[in-house]
Amino acid sequence: MNKQITVFLLALGLMMLGQVTIVDAGMTEDKANMSASDRGDTGEGAYMGYCLPCHGMDGTGNGPLADSLGEGIVPRNFTDGEYMSSRTDEELFKVIKFGGKKSGFSDAMPDWGYNFPDADIKAIVQYIRSDLCKCKYKAD
Ligand code: HEC
Repeated sequence: MNKQITVFLLALGLMMLGQVTIVDAGMTEDKANMSASDRGDTGEGAYMGYCLPCHGMDGTGNGPLADSLGEGIVPRNFTDGEYMSSRTDEELFKVIKFGGKKSGFSDAMPDWGYNFPDADIKAIVQYIRSDLCKCKYKAD
């Protein structure tokens, strides 16, 4: 290939890379003001930020804070397919939104209704279902 053309293409490539980075940075800023569902997130980001400390990265309930919650208080194990299949999405949603206490569970499970709009909580429920439990509600 002609040397001049090669240099030109290389320069063009670098410019395009630069462009992409600039556009990306702009989008990230806009995205910060949107809810997870508007961003098309799966709930994974919210889970990793807010739920992992107790429920653990893999959802087994062994997060770094799990041992500090008090005697006999164990974060739910989302990989327990049998138990999780006995709970409806609506029930999980309510525990997340209103906290454990309102549903008769430990108040060590916080209420997240102030942190997340309903659509985000639904996205988190979907993440728990599809990635951690890989299970659905089964009526018996
Ligand atoms: C400070 C620790 C802590 C954090 C953080 C936490 N949880 Fe929990 N969670 C618990 C505990 C403890 C329980 C079990 C309560 C019990 O069994 O009495 C629980 C129970 C649950 C349940 C069980 C509901 C059911 O029907 O059995 C769900 C769903 C849940 N948490 C979702 C979440 C989600 C989603 C987040 C993040 C937005 C989160 N939790 C963050 C401690 C926590």
